[in-house]
Amino acid sequence: MKIYIDSANINEINELNNLMPIDGVTTNPSIICKENRNNSLELLKQIREILRDDQLLFTQVIEDNYDKLIDQAYQLLNLLGKDTVIKIPVTFNGLKAIQYLEKNNINTLATAVFHPQQTNWAAKAGAKYVAPYVNRIDHHGGDGIKVVKESLCIIKNYDYKSEVVAASFKNTKQLHECALIGTHSITASPNILKQSFSHLSSSSSVAQFQQDWIDKYGSKKLT
Ligand code: G3P
Repeated sequence: MKIYIDSANINEINELNNLMPIDGVTTNPSIICKENRNNSLELLKQIREILRDDQLLFTQVIEDNYDKLIDQAYQLLNLLGKDTVIKIPVTFNGLKAIQYLEKNNINTLATAVFHPQQTNWAAKAGAKYVAPYVNRIDHHGGDGIKVVKESLCIIKNYDYKSEVVAASFKNTKQLHECALIGTHSITASPNILKQSFSHLSSSSSVAQFQQDWIDKYGSKKLT
């Protein structure tokens, strides 16, 4: 499974990227706004600089007019490199832009997917990635995991080249369920990613091992 950090916070990205096997960073306009920077492009450049070459940066266009949307996509690509994945919301103009950009060898992610048929269209349009919003779907009374599962099924049925990047998680159970159904990738906040690895019983077991050693040998040194 590929795992991305859904954040634009430099400290959080740095911390996690040093600890965990991370495949890249996803951002969206709201996440960038939270960082309260005057220059969002500068922030994106900083994120790109702390990532390795083999790690992906996904960043989103704001415009919804087709021509302006394409302009913003190229502005981001010129600034951040041609390997940047351009996130495009699943609007009609977005679908048109995905077709154009993919034909021009630009990788796109169709974002804000709430129904598997949006996956079908985005995948048919050539989107390299498709992002169902698990928790936002659950929040509105739907079944986020079912949307991910059916998105995976549609991609497989028609041999589309798209990968599902499940997004929007409120708890680690949602993330775990995505792993069980073979979701290609997930993106989650640093907190959710950390929570999905740490366990109180693991910590207490490790503490007990150390205490036993210290009681016997007086320190944590090997003896
Ligand atoms: O990547 C999409 C994601 O950022 C949305 O997450 O937690 O705002 O629903 P959330």
